[in-house]
Amino acid sequence: MKILVIHGPNLDKLGIREPAVYGKVTLAQINNSLKALAKKRKVTLTISQSNHEGKIVDLIASAASRKFAGILINPAAYTHTSVAIRDAISASGVFVVEVHLSNIYTREEFRHKSLISPVAKGTILGFGAKSYTLGLEALLDLVQVK
Ligand code: DQA
Repeated sequence: MKILVIHGPNLDKLGIREPAVYGKVTLAQINNSLKALAKKRKVTLTISQSNHEGKIVDLIASAASRKFAGILINPAAYTHTSVAIRDAISASGVFVVEVHLSNIYTREEFRHKSLISPVAKGTILGFGAKSYTLGLEALLDLVQVK
């Protein structure tokens, strides 16, 4: 079974980017935790990071034909702006779990609206890097027949 992980814009800078908000953990460390969990749960992960909205749309749109059972995504800033990513998820035909490191509802008002949450199966936020592993656990419970 294959799962697609998508990290949105600026997440490649984790560790040095606003550590007071996002913590000191790097994207490589997050990816290693996800890979360890995937190994334990016997699934294959494909991990992408992009700063480009269209690239993320293309990844989501091709997920079903590439035989991914689900997508774990942190859309980052596109969470609050991207109708294109929302529509791609809505049309994707695969389970999508949205994650955020920070609790977007305790931050600036422009972050309080997620265009993605209404089309995601569920959203996990506010637990720092742990949001990702919690999100992957939840996604695997959905898609994996134990
Ligand atoms: C984020 C929250 C977004 O508002 C922000 O633009 C990000 C990261 C998070 O993981 O907390 O880049 O998605």
